[in-house]
Amino acid sequence: MTDKYAVIGNPIGHTKSPLIHMTFAEQTGQDIEYTAIEGSLGGFREAAEAFRAAGGCGMNVTAPFKLDAFAYATDLTEQAQLAGAVNALKFADGKVYAQNFDGIGLTRDIVHNLGYPMRGKRVLLLGAGGAARGAMLPFLKEKPAQLVLVNRTVSKAKELFEQFSPYAGDTDFSFCAYPELGDLSVQFDMVINATSASLRGELPPVHTGVFKPGCLAYELAYGKGLTPFLRLAQGAGAQKLADGVGMLVEQAAEAFEWWRSVRPETAPMIATLTVPLV
Ligand code: ATR
Repeated sequence: MTDKYAVIGNPIGHTKSPLIHMTFAEQTGQDIEYTAIEGSLGGFREAAEAFRAAGGCGMNVTAPFKLDAFAYATDLTEQAQLAGAVNALKFADGKVYAQNFDGIGLTRDIVHNLGYPMRGKRVLLLGAGGAARGAMLPFLKEKPAQLVLVNRTVSKAKELFEQFSPYAGDTDFSFCAYPELGDLSVQFDMVINATSASLRGELPPVHTGVFKPGCLAYELAYGKGLTPFLRLAQGAGAQKLADGVGMLVEQAAEAFEWWRSVRPETAPMIATLTVPLV
């Protein structure tokens, strides 16, 4: 029997998830159907219940329902609990298992696909919203030498810092405000933009001294071309510029493996979805 999966969001018209998952299914010989559901605002629980009642096996969850999915879950992984949001659900044994693969997919893209190991490196993370929060545990698990959080609203960076300090191990973990970055006099091996600034064509006020020559500059937003952040990084001597296409495909692959116990190959899909950074 064909197993049913879906992505739920609002709006949902732009989603690449059905294409990605159906391609994975074809590649791995899995008999699944994967659709897109536009949930009504405030109607997440109803939509999820209806999908389960119709035999749904799992869902991806995107904006604005990641907190609703968190509340709906019966069994949260540590990663989802700490991220405070859920992007994948699995329905089994009458339970709602929940995970957040966004930060895991991001980390996998950086370390495996782009070939920038974090272990022993200096990492700068811009932003302290949902996207940054989801990246914290996966980043710290990679054991960077240093991880600095910077955010416009410093109190939010402090909050994240305090929450994740217990997981820092030997990593030199800290937070600061943008103007303080210059005082640090540290050049970073990777600078990751997890703010939503690029969605509005804005530039986080990061100064060019943070980019170590040869570093990786990673923009979580996908398909926005050469954003102001990437342009700044390029001018400052970054060696590699990347956007979130790899993160998008890797988080999907993680969910697919979680649901189907088979790991799809991601490189062909990333190549298909890559939009040139110009
Ligand atoms: P997401 O779920 O995409 O992380 P979010 O939770 O609304 O979205 O968080 C957005 C993040 O982008 C925040 O860290 C925000 O900074 P503030 O906490 O100070 O609001 C950051 N952000 C948005 N626009 C920005 C800008 N122009 N410059 C710097 N940071 C910006």
